[in-house]
Amino acid sequence: MAKQQSLLKTIFSYVGKIADERDIDRLMILLADMGRDLISADRCTVWLLNHKTRQLWSKVAHGMDRVVIPCTTGIAGCVATSGEALIINDPYNDSRFDKDVDKRTGYRTRNILALPILDGEGKILGVYQAINKMPAPAAFSRQDLEHLLLAATYTGKALDAALLQEEIEATQRELIFTLAEAGEKRSKETGQHVKRVAEYSYLFATGCGMSEIEAQLVRLAAPMHDIGKIAIPDAILQKPGKLDEDEWGIMKTHSELGYEILMHSERRMLKAAAVIARQHHEKWDGTGYPRGLKGDGIHMYGRITAMADVFDALGCPRVYKPAWELERIVSLFKAERAHQFDPDLVDVFLKHLDAVVRIKETYKDEPSAP
Ligand code: C2E
Ligand code: SIN
Ligand code: SIN
Ligand code: FE
Ligand code: FE
Repeated sequence: MAKQQSLLKTIFSYVGKIADERDIDRLMILLADMGRDLISADRCTVWLLNHKTRQLWSKVAHGMDRVVIPCTTGIAGCVATSGEALIINDPYNDSRFDKDVDKRTGYRTRNILALPILDGEGKILGVYQAINKMPAPAAFSRQDLEHLLLAATYTGKALDAALLQEEIEATQRELIFTLAEAGEKRSKETGQHVKRVAEYSYLFATGCGMSEIEAQLVRLAAPMHDIGKIAIPDAILQKPGKLDEDEWGIMKTHSELGYEILMHSERRMLKAAAVIARQHHEKWDGTGYPRGLKGDGIHMYGRITAMADVFDALGCPRVYKPAWELERIVSLFKAERAHQFDPDLVDVFLKHLDAVVRIKETYKDEPSAP
């Protein structure tokens, strides 16, 4: 009876957290922790099966990369292919066990409990794998299997929902980049430009203390900043030299045009994108366009993407100018602190210059065809 109660307590302590978790990586770690606590295992891993690549992947710890193994490897692989649960209390005498993992890590596997995680239709989603019943030398029992099975039933539903969510978000991201690139392509800017602007914006957003969720929102919305260039004629957009007064007047309408394209949506992300399109050329001292907003009057999203956009535009060649050296760009940001740009944000930029340069390197432009 006492045991049942502690079991219930474990489940209850996780249910709330699991129900609130949308991020697939964090969800997998939570589910693994719950499984481990439920049956007093030393370690527990939730593997997900990628049916296309025939691989199992997992997120074993916070901050670590995903681990990927072929779905024919070891005990987890057996369960993923056969769909049958396994209790193995003598792994070193079981040919299905992959001893190399222990050999590499110096860990000693005494016993393994592994069972399939199924989705609503009974299709195998992944594997729940527990290692080493605690305290040693205890072994996994049928009852442990029953208990982990209970967790797996619940896990399947939570994972199914999170995977669907991830699919939707991935689709959204792809759509946004495709749309944003369509705007930039005509001005001969590459697809990498919008990706870099997204990453710089995310870096500045977290750097100035924005929450992770809001920073992610800015990252998604930032690529749309120049969507209004879609309506600017090629003759202006691709003019090799300086724009005359009339051309410049037309060019400047791209921010308000972008806002008008995006403002009708009720989606949080597109609302953010609308603000960004409208405000990414405002300047801290009030000399920007289209409205000459000043200081705090400029939305934080606008101040962030303004910096990200200018940093990237200066580092890249344009039809109207060559690329600048990093040193010259940094000098401009220092000079424009509290003039063109929010002084606090310039400080964030300078503090994280290493990370900025890493992003620049990671999303380098492909050398263009002659
Ligand atoms: P863009 O090329 O993406 O540049 C974005 C912003 O980066 C510019 O906004 C400006 O703030 C900054 N920037 C880019 N190049 C330089 C530079 O050489 N010096 C300095 N100090 N800042 C620079 P801005 O000025 O509002 O321009 C908006 C867009 O208008 C540009 O986007 C570009 O598409 C177009 N544009 C601006 N000037 C010219 C020009 O002389 N010729 C042509 N063909 N297009 C121009
Ligand atoms: C296996 O499934 O055979 C490997 C067990 C482990 O992860 O140590
Ligand atoms: C808006 O939310 O309507 C745009 C905010 C602004 O650019 O003033
Ligand atoms: Fe712009
Ligand atoms: Fe841009």
